[in-house]
Amino acid sequence: MFDHCDLLEDLNKHLPLKDKIVSAHRIIAEKFNFIARIAITLYDPETRVLKTYLHSSGKNEPLVHYQALLDDAPSLKDILKKGRPRVVNKLVTFDNNQKKHTQRIGRQGYAASYTMPMFHSGNFIGFLFFNSYKSDVFTERILSDLDVYAHLVSLMVINELTTLKILNAALKTTSHITHLRDPETGCHLDRMSRYSRIIALSLADKYELDDEYIEHIFMFAPLHDIGKIGIPDSILLKPGPLDSSERAIMNTHSRKGKEMIEDIISNFGLDGINDIDILKNIAEFHHEAVNGSGYPSGKVNTEIPLEARIIAVADVFDALTSRRSYKEAWDNDKSFELLKQIAGEKLDIDCVNALIENRKEVEHIQQQFKEDRYG
Ligand code: C2E
Ligand code: SIN
Ligand code: SIN
Ligand code: SIN
Ligand code: FE
Ligand code: FE
Repeated sequence: MFDHCDLLEDLNKHLPLKDKIVSAHRIIAEKFNFIARIAITLYDPETRVLKTYLHSSGKNEPLVHYQALLDDAPSLKDILKKGRPRVVNKLVTFDNNQKKHTQRIGRQGYAASYTMPMFHSGNFIGFLFFNSYKSDVFTERILSDLDVYAHLVSLMVINELTTLKILNAALKTTSHITHLRDPETGCHLDRMSRYSRIIALSLADKYELDDEYIEHIFMFAPLHDIGKIGIPDSILLKPGPLDSSERAIMNTHSRKGKEMIEDIISNFGLDGINDIDILKNIAEFHHEAVNGSGYPSGKVNTEIPLEARIIAVADVFDALTSRRSYKEAWDNDKSFELLKQIAGEKLDIDCVNALIENRKEVEHIQQQFKEDRYG
């Protein structure tokens, strides 16, 4: 008799994707000890941007908080065009044509890489990278074995993204109904989720935020006002200011949103999603104020989860720069001025500064997601 030990056991467990990737790396390294790093980048088809998402290496990860246009990475684009993985067995040369990310990988001492495009239902979703400190390791023979593992890792990523997609779809179906009667447009959500990402990226070093956290903020941001579905039209669509009883009802949208999310998570059995608290916190606390004057809980400063402080700034900035039923759109100068005024009072100072410091990127997003472009 012998005890067979399932090498892949960890992968069946209820673990965050990051831990599964680290586990997968450990398992793969037992067979292929030259593999020093596994990394995943995700693709945003709307902006054609590739973003770092997850990696298996420790603190010395060379490539965090990095993003590039797919069009600026010809070698990666080429992989996609051919639909086949790419082997680079010598990453040592440094000509000027090399992109920043390849240079950083090189500097870290990686000598070879194997890059596989990931597809889900025929759609390109990102790349999977295997890196090695040794050159000439990715031989034909090795790759036929490694591919099995590569597809396993890719399935793990797809599984996580699909779960997130189901959650988003479930919530969107409901929020879509809301937005049919909400003066906020879809573009508001496109913009504010990207402002949130700018803020998170900018704070990443100071707050030690990893790429997965940042990506989840980006994914969950559009759901912040889901609770507005519970607010009657007469209040939600009122063309003028709200009276105090209407205001009190309006203010229940954040707590309602959190409750809806909890319902959907339990009804759909989605409680395995890593970072699901981020979503709940965003819905519940995006109208808290750092001086305690916000709702629903009157939390102060760091009692308000960071993700909610980030979303608050992105949401208010986009509300100010957009036309509302009771006000015209403000220009950026005026809106940034107001943000500065209420920083430290309503809004978190670091989050406000992070947005203002990245004005160029903010304006780029405003160009990309103009109201009149989609209606
Ligand atoms: P929202 O459209 O998502 O607004 C987000 C936040 O942006 C507001 O949260 C507020 O903090 C900020 N904001 C928007 N416009 C202005 C402005 O002109 N000046 C300042 N200082 N801040 C602004 P808030 O106040 O908690 O409102 C939550 C939601 O309640 C809003 O969501 C909106 O749907 C609704 N709402 C608020 N005020 C009115 C109103 O006067 N009339 C109507 N019809 N709805 C309102
Ligand atoms: C990466 O590992 O994230 C990119 C390196 C490459 O382009 O091979
Ligand atoms: C809206 O619901 O979009 C208008 C109200 C606001 O911006 O506060
Ligand atoms: C917040 O409460 O965090 C947003 C600022 C505001 O309500 O004016
Ligand atoms: Fe809100
Ligand atoms: Fe909003």
